[in-house]
Amino acid sequence: MSQAPVVRLEKDNDIGVIVVDYPPVNALGPGVADGIVDALNRGNADPEIRAMVLIGAGRSFIAGADIRGFGTGRKRAPLGSRTYDVMDRSAKPVVAAIHGYALGGGLENALGCHYRIAVPAAKVGLPEVQIGILPGGGGTQRLPRLVGPKVALDMITSGRHVPAPEALALGILDEVLPEGADLRSSAVAYARRVADIRPLPRVRDRAVPPYDPGLFDATRKAIARRARNQKAPYRCIEAVEAACTLPFEEGIARENEFFAELENSDEARALRYAFFAEREVAKLPDMPADIKPRDFHDPAVIGAGTMGGGIAMSFADFGYDVKIMDATEAALNRGMERIRNNYATSVKRGSLAQDDMERRLARIHPVAGYDDIKDCDIVVEAVFERMDVKKPVFAKLDEIMNPDALLFSNTSALDMDDLASVTGRAQNIAGTHFFSPANVMKLLEVVRPSKASPETMATAMAMGRKIGKISAMAGNTDGFVANRSRAPFNGEMVILLEEGCLPEQVDKVMVDFGYPMGPFAVGDLAGLDVGAEGRKRRAAANPNYRKLPIADRLVELGRFGQKTGAGWYRYEKGDRTPHPDPEVAAIIKQVIAELGTPQHDFTDQEILFRLLFSSVNEACRILEEGKAYRASDVDVMWLHGFGFPRYRGGLMYWADGIGVKNVYDQIERWHQQYGERWAPSRLLRHLAESGTPFREAKPAPFR
Ligand code: 3HC
Repeated sequence: MSQAPVVRLEKDNDIGVIVVDYPPVNALGPGVADGIVDALNRGNADPEIRAMVLIGAGRSFIAGADIRGFGTGRKRAPLGSRTYDVMDRSAKPVVAAIHGYALGGGLENALGCHYRIAVPAAKVGLPEVQIGILPGGGGTQRLPRLVGPKVALDMITSGRHVPAPEALALGILDEVLPEGADLRSSAVAYARRVADIRPLPRVRDRAVPPYDPGLFDATRKAIARRARNQKAPYRCIEAVEAACTLPFEEGIARENEFFAELENSDEARALRYAFFAEREVAKLPDMPADIKPRDFHDPAVIGAGTMGGGIAMSFADFGYDVKIMDATEAALNRGMERIRNNYATSVKRGSLAQDDMERRLARIHPVAGYDDIKDCDIVVEAVFERMDVKKPVFAKLDEIMNPDALLFSNTSALDMDDLASVTGRAQNIAGTHFFSPANVMKLLEVVRPSKASPETMATAMAMGRKIGKISAMAGNTDGFVANRSRAPFNGEMVILLEEGCLPEQVDKVMVDFGYPMGPFAVGDLAGLDVGAEGRKRRAAANPNYRKLPIADRLVELGRFGQKTGAGWYRYEKGDRTPHPDPEVAAIIKQVIAELGTPQHDFTDQEILFRLLFSSVNEACRILEEGKAYRASDVDVMWLHGFGFPRYRGGLMYWADGIGVKNVYDQIERWHQQYGERWAPSRLLRHLAESGTPFREAKPAPFR
């Protein structure tokens, strides 16, 4: 049976309608670009056709080049023969009719068209930088001609999706249709209106609008922090600069060179991997196909502390009315005040409009007690992280809530089976571990207790996505997947201090590696007392637990981090800048003297490997126990929960770059040197022996 063509040329009397039909998002997969070229040529050759429309079937215009084809040795069509070139040579006008997304090569095709119209909900953008490349279909040359280099630089170096009304104001679109208008018939009518206008308006013929020549260096400076260790953002700037200084064809040639250089760069490979890992993480291989997530309309949050407040904000930010309660009126008022302040800070920074803040705040409803939430369909509990505090809350919820209401706990480590056992509805209970600040961090770790129903789990995963999170499923194990895999790293970083490192030295290595902040500075931000609680609990349960006397000493001295003005660093009043503190160095020295630990010098690589390899080993244990579905899920959690540099793919992807055998050999050496805490996991040994990369590791069935 022959397959339906991915591009069709249909006729609406005198207008040719080129329909791209390559589900799900009309990426420029095999045959699509050729199909567009062929349709353009046929449209031009057909005397009945006066003008053409380029439109996408299904949910989107064109989402860009087919990323799956990148790095596979594919051949790109030579310059001069691409869709945009054929549009440039077209004797008849082409109107891009945009709905859904016009991204990357999608927007570049639209920029090759003579006119662009869109529905109000459409989005356009050049997100290539987010996958480690630059726009390679003329986007770096056409967009600056259309909107000026300043806007082009902003769009191309950020990759942001621009909503249609803004794209109209910027001049990217010629028209945004009224709400509810039919795109195809409107585009056909538009094409008919412009069919006889000559000369054809081509973006390439425009002169770049006047600009400040200092713009390029200023942009390089502005992105330096987030773009460190990466090439693509800088190539994006150079290419836009070329658009401003070189003739069109030469600019295109520059862009083409840069694209060829970047397509197979380490950062592009890692970022592509991250893109697909983020889509894979939503898939639950053992979920029965007929299970659908339940709809919910009326969420409630219990606990108006930092976490509860952030969770309530997440619901409100995504359009949900949410109720929030706390044990006392004073705590609730404090919580609401904090929420208000957080929004106000965003307004002050310019990232949120005042009326948006008011709308969001109005969706958060403080309520006095359980009676006010008893009809809610989803409750997220975010009270203090201790079983004896959470259990009575769950018992009470079980008593008053409708029997089918779902009860989720925001816990970062506690046993969800134990918590569910105080209720008579274990099938309706799951863990939903938010990361702090909950309204900002993208990760939602969804924890599956043993009795939770598939529908409960599907709903918890979907809930995360509905409030803008990336949901990732974890098994019920101490610390779940994210914190459990991170725990050895947290231990090693303090143990390094016993052996001669200083916090600022470790932090520098990790920031140079690509983290936005060093782990000690992060500890100060989160509060050192939080970790101390967990260590106490684990030490009580396990006599072999590796204590961290330096960290404990700091907490004993009341150095809880930023909130007390001192932690691993000292802080000036009202300022969050960490300053290395000679007092900390003295405390470390004192503990070292008490322990008698031998001291030595560390290379940066040793520091990096000590921290990350310990976590790789633990992640392997998690996989061998069936507490995660895939190594790539661990990567997604590290990217979105812990700020692991995205252009390094994720913890396990990065470790594959070092080589599984090299990781294993080093861990085995440390095992000899330091004893049991470095014992290699069974899975790690197996992978090293069989030469299997981490990302192809077969975990045990999820449980
Ligand atoms: N190439 C290949 N597959 C793609 C793709 C692309 N450009 N865009 C999306 N897909 C796939 C996804 O992997 C997913 O596949 P799956 O169902 O097998 O997991 C499916 O399409 C649906 O995607 P999402 O789940 O992400 O759907 P959403 O509706 O949530 O999001 C989207 C849609 C906003 C278009 C999002 O998919 C996206 O951001 N895609 C990438 C866009 C992009 O980066 N485009 C530029 C590509 S590079 C380029 O164009 C180079 C050019 O300059 C030469």
